[in-house]
Amino acid sequence: MTQIINDKQAVAIHAAKLVEDDMLIGLGTGSTANYFIEELARRKKEENLQFATVASSTVSMIKAQQLGLDLVAMEHVRQLDLYVDGADEVTEDLTLLKGRGFDLVKEKLLAAASEQFYVLIDDSKTVSRIGENYPIPVEVAPFSWQMVLRSLQQIGATGDLRSNSNGDGLAITSHGSLVLDMVFDSSLDADDLNSELNRIPGIVEHGIFYQLASHVFMGKDGEIIER
Ligand code: 5RP
Repeated sequence: MTQIINDKQAVAIHAAKLVEDDMLIGLGTGSTANYFIEELARRKKEENLQFATVASSTVSMIKAQQLGLDLVAMEHVRQLDLYVDGADEVTEDLTLLKGRGFDLVKEKLLAAASEQFYVLIDDSKTVSRIGENYPIPVEVAPFSWQMVLRSLQQIGATGDLRSNSNGDGLAITSHGSLVLDMVFDSSLDADDLNSELNRIPGIVEHGIFYQLASHVFMGKDGEIIER
Protein backbone atom coordinates (compact mmCIF):
# COMPACT_ATOMS: atom_id res chain seq x y z
CA MET A 1 0.00 0.00 0.00
CA THR A 2 1.45 3.37 -1.03
CA GLN A 3 1.41 6.31 1.41
CA ILE A 4 -0.34 9.10 -0.57
CA ILE A 5 1.44 12.44 -0.21
CA ASN A 6 -0.47 14.82 -2.49
CA ASP A 7 -3.33 15.16 -5.01
CA LYS A 8 -1.07 14.48 -8.01
CA GLN A 9 -0.07 11.15 -6.54
CA ALA A 10 -3.66 10.30 -5.53
CA VAL A 11 -4.91 10.88 -9.05
CA ALA A 12 -2.02 8.88 -10.54
CA ILE A 13 -2.83 5.93 -8.30
CA HIS A 14 -6.49 6.19 -9.33
CA ALA A 15 -5.55 6.08 -13.04
CA ALA A 16 -3.17 3.15 -12.54
CA LYS A 17 -6.07 1.14 -11.06
CA LEU A 18 -7.76 1.35 -14.49
CA VAL A 19 -4.86 -0.38 -16.25
CA GLU A 20 -5.65 -3.93 -17.35
CA ASP A 21 -3.52 -6.92 -18.37
CA ASP A 22 -1.98 -6.85 -21.86
CA MET A 23 -2.42 -3.13 -22.42
CA LEU A 24 0.13 -1.01 -24.27
CA ILE A 25 0.37 2.17 -22.21
CA GLY A 26 1.89 5.52 -23.15
CA LEU A 27 3.84 7.18 -20.37
CA GLY A 28 3.61 10.96 -20.11
CA THR A 29 6.23 13.34 -18.79
CA GLY A 30 6.33 15.41 -15.60
CA SER A 31 5.84 15.01 -11.86
CA THR A 32 2.28 13.60 -12.15
CA ALA A 33 3.27 11.16 -14.89
CA ASN A 34 6.15 10.03 -12.66
CA TYR A 35 3.73 9.06 -9.90
CA PHE A 36 1.75 7.07 -12.46
CA ILE A 37 4.90 5.24 -13.62
CA GLU A 38 5.78 4.41 -10.00
CA GLU A 39 2.31 3.01 -9.34
CA LEU A 40 2.41 0.92 -12.52
CA ALA A 41 5.73 -0.53 -11.34
CA ARG A 42 4.19 -1.34 -7.96
CA ARG A 43 1.22 -3.11 -9.57
CA LYS A 44 3.56 -5.08 -11.84
CA LYS A 45 5.67 -6.20 -8.90
CA GLU A 46 2.96 -6.84 -6.30
CA GLU A 47 0.02 -7.88 -8.50
CA ASN A 48 1.89 -9.35 -11.46
CA LEU A 49 0.04 -7.02 -13.84
CA GLN A 50 1.23 -7.66 -17.42
CA PHE A 51 1.60 -4.67 -19.74
CA ALA A 52 4.06 -2.89 -22.02
CA THR A 53 4.84 0.82 -22.15
CA VAL A 54 6.00 3.44 -24.62
CA ALA A 55 7.62 6.62 -23.28
CA SER A 56 6.96 10.21 -24.37
CA SER A 57 10.42 11.39 -23.31
CA THR A 58 13.91 10.28 -22.38
CA VAL A 59 13.20 11.13 -18.74
CA SER A 60 10.11 8.89 -18.65
CA MET A 61 11.94 6.16 -20.53
CA ILE A 62 14.79 6.14 -18.00
CA LYS A 63 12.36 6.16 -15.07
CA ALA A 64 10.39 3.25 -16.56
CA GLN A 65 13.61 1.35 -17.26
CA GLN A 66 14.89 1.89 -13.72
CA LEU A 67 11.62 0.57 -12.32
CA GLY A 68 11.74 -2.54 -14.51
CA LEU A 69 8.84 -1.75 -16.88
CA ASP A 70 8.80 -3.30 -20.36
CA LEU A 71 9.38 -0.59 -22.97
CA VAL A 72 8.57 -0.58 -26.67
CA ALA A 73 10.33 1.93 -28.96
CA MET A 74 7.89 4.43 -30.47
CA GLU A 75 9.04 3.42 -33.96
CA HIS A 76 7.28 0.06 -33.42
CA VAL A 77 3.97 1.50 -32.25
CA ARG A 78 0.97 2.08 -34.53
CA GLN A 79 -1.60 2.55 -31.79
CA LEU A 80 -1.90 2.09 -28.06
CA ASP A 81 -4.60 1.32 -25.53
CA LEU A 82 -4.03 4.11 -23.08
CA TYR A 83 -1.96 7.28 -22.79
CA VAL A 84 -1.64 8.91 -19.36
CA ASP A 85 -0.10 12.33 -18.80
CA GLY A 86 -0.39 15.55 -16.82
CA ALA A 87 -1.25 18.99 -18.22
CA ASP A 88 -0.53 22.64 -17.47
CA GLU A 89 -4.08 23.92 -18.07
CA VAL A 90 -7.44 22.19 -18.61
CA THR A 91 -10.70 23.87 -19.65
CA GLU A 92 -14.29 22.76 -19.07
CA ASP A 93 -14.45 21.15 -22.55
CA LEU A 94 -11.25 19.11 -21.84
CA THR A 95 -8.96 21.17 -24.05
CA LEU A 96 -5.42 21.05 -22.64
CA LEU A 97 -2.35 23.20 -22.62
CA LYS A 98 0.80 21.09 -22.41
CA GLY A 99 4.47 21.33 -23.13
CA ARG A 100 6.12 23.37 -20.41
CA GLY A 101 8.74 20.63 -20.88
CA PHE A 102 10.39 19.81 -24.17
CA ASP A 103 8.54 16.74 -25.37
CA LEU A 104 5.43 18.08 -27.06
CA VAL A 105 5.84 16.16 -30.31
CA LYS A 106 5.91 12.70 -28.77
CA GLU A 107 3.24 13.61 -26.22
CA LYS A 108 0.76 14.68 -28.89
CA LEU A 109 1.57 11.71 -31.13
CA LEU A 110 0.89 9.26 -28.30
CA ALA A 111 -2.26 11.09 -27.20
CA ALA A 112 -3.62 11.01 -30.75
CA ALA A 113 -2.71 7.34 -31.35
CA SER A 114 -4.32 6.11 -28.15
CA GLU A 115 -7.77 4.54 -27.64
CA GLN A 116 -8.04 6.44 -24.35
CA PHE A 117 -6.14 9.47 -23.05
CA TYR A 118 -6.38 10.05 -19.32
CA VAL A 119 -5.24 13.47 -18.10
CA LEU A 120 -4.16 13.74 -14.49
CA ILE A 121 -4.27 17.09 -12.71
CA ASP A 122 -4.69 18.78 -9.38
CA ASP A 123 -7.13 21.67 -9.12
CA SER A 124 -4.44 24.33 -9.77
CA LYS A 125 -4.63 23.29 -13.46
CA THR A 126 -8.26 24.16 -14.22
CA VAL A 127 -8.81 27.36 -16.20
CA SER A 128 -11.67 29.05 -18.04
CA ARG A 129 -9.60 29.59 -21.20
CA ILE A 130 -6.38 28.14 -22.63
CA GLY A 131 -3.51 30.56 -22.12
CA GLU A 132 -4.92 31.96 -18.89
CA ASN A 133 -1.87 31.08 -16.77
CA TYR A 134 0.87 30.37 -19.30
CA PRO A 135 1.96 31.45 -22.76
CA ILE A 136 1.32 28.82 -25.45
CA PRO A 137 4.47 26.92 -26.43
CA VAL A 138 5.02 26.68 -30.17
CA GLU A 139 7.85 24.36 -31.27
CA VAL A 140 9.50 25.58 -34.47
CA ALA A 141 12.18 24.25 -36.77
CA PRO A 142 15.21 26.46 -35.94
CA PHE A 143 15.46 27.86 -39.49
CA SER A 144 11.77 28.86 -39.50
CA TRP A 145 11.49 30.81 -36.26
CA GLN A 146 11.52 34.32 -37.74
CA MET A 147 8.88 33.49 -40.36
CA VAL A 148 6.70 31.68 -37.82
CA LEU A 149 7.02 34.55 -35.34
CA ARG A 150 5.91 36.97 -38.08
CA SER A 151 2.89 34.77 -38.95
CA LEU A 152 1.94 34.60 -35.28
CA GLN A 153 2.30 38.37 -34.89
CA GLN A 154 0.01 38.81 -37.91
CA ILE A 155 -2.75 37.04 -35.98
CA GLY A 156 -2.18 39.33 -33.00
CA ALA A 157 0.13 37.20 -30.84
CA THR A 158 3.10 38.49 -28.86
CA GLY A 159 6.04 36.51 -27.58
CA ASP A 160 9.59 35.43 -28.17
CA LEU A 161 12.00 32.52 -28.16
CA ARG A 162 12.22 30.61 -24.88
CA SER A 163 15.55 30.86 -23.04
CA ASN A 164 17.27 27.86 -21.50
CA SER A 165 17.07 27.36 -17.74
CA ASN A 166 20.43 29.09 -17.13
CA GLY A 167 19.27 32.10 -19.15
CA ASP A 168 22.50 32.04 -21.13
CA GLY A 169 21.12 30.54 -24.35
CA LEU A 170 18.01 29.22 -26.07
CA ALA A 171 15.85 26.30 -24.98
CA ILE A 172 16.22 23.37 -27.41
CA THR A 173 13.61 20.60 -27.39
CA SER A 174 14.28 16.84 -27.59
CA HIS A 175 13.90 17.13 -31.36
CA GLY A 176 16.28 20.03 -31.77
CA SER A 177 13.48 22.57 -32.19
CA LEU A 178 13.29 26.07 -30.72
CA VAL A 179 10.25 27.17 -28.68
CA LEU A 180 8.26 30.39 -29.11
CA ASP A 181 6.21 31.19 -25.99
CA MET A 182 3.24 33.14 -27.31
CA VAL A 183 0.37 35.10 -25.80
CA PHE A 184 -2.79 35.36 -27.92
CA ASP A 185 -5.78 37.63 -27.86
CA SER A 186 -8.15 36.26 -25.21
CA SER A 187 -11.10 36.51 -27.64
CA LEU A 188 -9.67 33.62 -29.74
CA ASP A 189 -11.19 30.34 -28.51
CA ALA A 190 -9.18 27.10 -28.38
CA ASP A 191 -10.79 25.73 -31.54
CA ASP A 192 -9.78 28.82 -33.58
CA LEU A 193 -6.35 28.96 -31.99
CA ASN A 194 -5.73 25.28 -32.67
CA SER A 195 -6.75 25.71 -36.33
CA GLU A 196 -4.59 28.83 -36.75
CA LEU A 197 -1.53 27.12 -35.29
CA ASN A 198 -2.10 23.94 -37.34
CA ARG A 199 -2.08 25.91 -40.60
CA ILE A 200 1.20 27.91 -40.16
CA PRO A 201 4.16 26.33 -41.99
CA GLY A 202 7.35 25.88 -39.94
CA ILE A 203 5.50 24.98 -36.72
CA VAL A 204 6.60 21.51 -35.66
CA GLU A 205 3.95 21.22 -32.90
CA HIS A 206 2.16 23.39 -30.38
CA GLY A 207 0.86 23.01 -26.86
CA ILE A 208 -2.90 23.05 -27.46
CA PHE A 209 -4.33 19.53 -27.18
CA TYR A 210 -7.79 19.96 -28.69
CA GLN A 211 -10.34 17.13 -28.60
CA LEU A 212 -7.72 14.57 -27.60
CA ALA A 213 -8.44 13.89 -23.91
CA SER A 214 -10.99 11.19 -23.18
CA HIS A 215 -11.08 11.65 -19.40
CA VAL A 216 -9.67 14.17 -16.96
CA PHE A 217 -9.08 13.03 -13.38
CA MET A 218 -8.61 15.85 -10.92
CA GLY A 219 -7.29 15.35 -7.41
CA LYS A 220 -8.69 17.85 -4.94
CA ASP A 221 -8.20 17.63 -1.17
CA GLY A 222 -7.88 13.85 -1.34
CA GLU A 223 -10.98 13.39 -3.57
CA ILE A 224 -10.84 12.30 -7.24
CA ILE A 225 -13.16 14.22 -9.54
CA GLU A 226 -13.71 12.73 -13.01
CA ARG A 227 -14.69 14.74 -16.10
C1 5RP B 1 5.20 18.19 -20.11
C2 5RP B 1 3.79 18.38 -19.71
C3 5RP B 1 3.41 18.03 -18.30
O1 5RP B 1 2.46 17.01 -18.34
C4 5RP B 1 2.83 19.23 -17.62
O2 5RP B 1 3.81 20.26 -17.63
C5 5RP B 1 2.39 18.92 -16.19
O3 5RP B 1 3.51 18.65 -15.39
P1 5RP B 1 3.38 18.23 -13.87
O4 5RP B 1 2.70 16.91 -13.84
O5 5RP B 1 4.80 18.17 -13.38
O6 5RP B 1 2.57 19.29 -13.16
O7 5RP B 1 2.95 18.77 -20.49
O8 5RP B 1 5.39 18.53 -21.46
